[in-house]
Amino acid sequence: MNPLSHVAIIMDGNGRWGLKHKNSRNEGHKAGLKTVEIIIKETIKLKIKYLTLYAFSTENWNRPQYEIKYLFSLLEDFLLKKIDDLHKQNIKLNIIGVKNFSKKLNKLLNSSEKKTSKNTRLQINLALNYGSKSEIINAIKKISINNDKINEKNLSKYLQTKNTPDPEILIRTGNTKRLSNFLLWQLAYSEIFFEKKLWPDFGEKDYIKIIRKFKKIKRNFGKI
Ligand code: IPE
Ligand code: IPE
Ligand code: MG
Repeated sequence: MNPLSHVAIIMDGNGRWGLKHKNSRNEGHKAGLKTVEIIIKETIKLKIKYLTLYAFSTENWNRPQYEIKYLFSLLEDFLLKKIDDLHKQNIKLNIIGVKNFSKKLNKLLNSSEKKTSKNTRLQINLALNYGSKSEIINAIKKISINNDKINEKNLSKYLQTKNTPDPEILIRTGNTKRLSNFLLWQLAYSEIFFEKKLWPDFGEKDYIKIIRKFKKIKRNFGKI
């Protein structure tokens, strides 16, 4: 059975779900948030230590303003309502990506991270304004400023996922097979599961099914 410490998820399909069921993309984002809560709960039950969720990419700024605004208001609401609960559950929140949002949201993100920084049961890396290519470039810049050696170990150390093992599993919902600039370095040897279901329709059963499948995969890492 393969050990499992880190699951990464590209939570895709909210917009299509919203249009189909409520004639509004934003309603899909709202529904998607419920799936986030379900998956966090299940991740704890499964004793997985790291969960990285792609919530907003650097490319997502190209969406209409009303959708971007709505997404960040959902996030703000969620943190205000749930951060104490996450903290009580011993969950650590870690933001990856560049925090260049409104003053208010930046402050809320920082205080949420600080509050939960010592927690040990589960670390959630929330990818916000995240792009993998720029993460890698920034890491290389920092290595050279510090006059450090450029090697794999150091590069991993300078990425925003430092102190997090690489994900053994990547899940992308929404019936699309691409990485969309997500964790390009960290996913080098991950098992990838492309799910047909849209994110709001994805549930614990689908999640558990993937984990079971993963456990039985023969992971070669180049060997035979
Ligand atoms: C993913 O769902 C969530 C974000 C990018 C914020 P989408 O909004 O991309 O949903 P689809 O792919 O348009 O259905
Ligand atoms: C990837 O989904 C980003 C997130 C889930 C946050 P997108 O829906 O933005 O990806 P593309 O643009 O279809 O590749
Ligand atoms: Mg999408």
